Amino acid sequence: RTLAAVRRKLLAWFDAHRRDLPWRADRDPYRIWVSEVMLQQTTVAAVVPYFERFLASFPTVAALAAADEQAVLRHWEGLGYYRRARHLHRAAKDLAAAHGDALPDDPAVWAELPGVGPYILGAVMSQAFDRKLPIVEANSLRVLSRWFGYRGDPREGAGKKWVWKAAAAVLPTARVGDFNQALMELGALVCSPTAPACGTCPVAKWCEANRLGLQAQIPPATKA
Ligand code: ADE
Repeated sequence: RTLAAVRRKLLAWFDAHRRDLPWRADRDPYRIWVSEVMLQQTTVAAVVPYFERFLASFPTVAALAAADEQAVLRHWEGLGYYRRARHLHRAAKDLAAAHGDALPDDPAVWAELPGVGPYILGAVMSQAFDRKLPIVEANSLRVLSRWFGYRGDPREGAGKKWVWKAAAAVLPTARVGDFNQALMELGALVCSPTAPACGTCPVAKWCEANRLGLQAQIPPATKA
């Protein structure tokens, strides 16, 4: 019952407060994929202009597949982690060769692509196809750790296992992509690292860290 209430509250909050971001305009798996590869390493604000330029030059997976590697890398200049751009480009070639412009609703296909780990897999599958796969990133791991009062470090070892399990266990059966984004968005806008706005949090009354006053200790600070 409690879990159902938290899901409902989070989705309602997301509907009311979601930022209008260019990759949220539709469910095009290609746009979602590109955005999530960029977002893996950079903040939303920094990604937006890169995303717009990238999509203007390479509007479809076929366009990206046909592009010159140097042109792709030029669009990545300033984002860093060029390996991700190379992987994206190589994966686009694989996908375009095998599937043309209709990207497959099949996690097994995506999981084989270069640069596609659990995060990208969950992000694309849930947001584009509403498949029930979790995402864990910096914002959602903070939300999940505080919600359940998890005292270990969710970034490594047993903690990392715990947080991925928790992220899977809380998923609803419908609107999975929105729910995953709601967790990230809550972490970005409300459940911030050092000054969480628990007074305006839609799920504060179910939050273990809030109940115990442990927001500052959960999750533990990142090691330098
Ligand atoms: N960070 C990474 N992916 C995101 C998304 N889809 N929405 C908000 N923040 C994100």
